[in-house]
Amino acid sequence: MRMYDVIVKKRDGGQLSKEEIEFFVEGYTQGDIPDYQASALTMAIYFQGMTPEETATLTQAMVDSGETIDLSQIKGHKVDKHSTGGVGDKVTFIVGPLVASVGVPVAKMSGRGLGHTGGTLDKLESVKGLEIEMTKEQFIQNVNEHKLAVAGQTGNLAPADKKLYALRDVTGTVDSLPLIAGSIMSKKLASGADSIVLDVKTGSGAFMKTLEDSEALAQEMVNIGNNLGRNTIAVISDMNQPLGFEVGNANEIKEAAEILQGKKVEDLRELSLEIASHMTVLAEVFSNYEEAYQALEQNLENGKAFASFRKLIESQHGDTAMIDDLSLLPKAAHAIEVTAEQDGYVAEIDAESIGIAAMYLGAGRATKDDQIDHGVGITLKKKIGDQVKAGEALVILHSVESNADSSVQKVKEAYQISSTQVEKPKLIYKVIK
Ligand code: URA
Repeated sequence: MRMYDVIVKKRDGGQLSKEEIEFFVEGYTQGDIPDYQASALTMAIYFQGMTPEETATLTQAMVDSGETIDLSQIKGHKVDKHSTGGVGDKVTFIVGPLVASVGVPVAKMSGRGLGHTGGTLDKLESVKGLEIEMTKEQFIQNVNEHKLAVAGQTGNLAPADKKLYALRDVTGTVDSLPLIAGSIMSKKLASGADSIVLDVKTGSGAFMKTLEDSEALAQEMVNIGNNLGRNTIAVISDMNQPLGFEVGNANEIKEAAEILQGKKVEDLRELSLEIASHMTVLAEVFSNYEEAYQALEQNLENGKAFASFRKLIESQHGDTAMIDDLSLLPKAAHAIEVTAEQDGYVAEIDAESIGIAAMYLGAGRATKDDQIDHGVGITLKKKIGDQVKAGEALVILHSVESNADSSVQKVKEAYQISSTQVEKPKLIYKVIK
């Protein structure tokens, strides 16, 4: 087979066979196919698209390019969740314990943050002593004993995706639905769960800015999952503003813990219950969504979900005193208010700008070797639709320095105030099964 013929076939709108896709993925991963031919093919895919069968084959080939995690020693139906990335997204810390509290095993492999979105592992490490590195045996034992463990990704999962993503990043071919969907799903599938709930974000702070694009991505990923034998559901949720009120590492752990203790932060609690309900139905613990929702809501109220969170911290050697008394979590020395310049209603909060403002404070990494500070972050005092008076605080910056001008500037750019009343955005747009 010649790579030249594969490129020309796709360029002219043809459907690639399983053999042709596998030839490309294997050849590229092993270095037999050069970057220039791989980029020609990804550009052809960008323009011509892929059928659902081609996308599933591409995804499976990327899974097969590396190791896969074998979770078969974990008892029960393993359900994973994945968010396409947002600012203030601490849903994993709520959903994990919540789902575990009704007996569904959650074996979560996560990554670190880069750029304007934070990473699950960085956030968890706000708790002193907490370890995210463990042997595979320990990971499995923790899930079997406590129904929940969160670890750093081990093993060489989907190396073909790693190489292809880096190439797409510099050749203008990231924004291709089959390529994005295949990329995300190859890593999820390699992580070994039986079922998957995807939280596909939509809006100004999301990878996909329009509902139409988010729906198309969600549908593509659901098709891949279902085609490759994993029950997959996607929830399309709003990212036109940060989720909840806290952004930053310790800040987000604190807010998640408060929800687990029954606090009612509307959007965050609602989205967590939505995702957890789908996960537990997929795991066949409940027969329908309503039943699941009710039982999970109860576990937020009766302390069971929080107990499961505390167990996670304890089993991974984190300091539980910080969870019992959330004021012990790291906190930066200075609290700087950013205030409204006019009366009105909050019309927009650009989530990406808030994420960047938090990164400037030290909550995130501009490059992958940057050190992060767990105690810095942003507390939102106003969200879209809220009334505000000139001089009132929009946010509080938790900063190491007494001066945080670049973050202040970024927050000011993020907030738009309207003189007329503004409706709160919808939180959940659609569920795709
Ligand atoms: N995230 C991924 O993992 N892959 C993509 O292609 C885009 C976003």
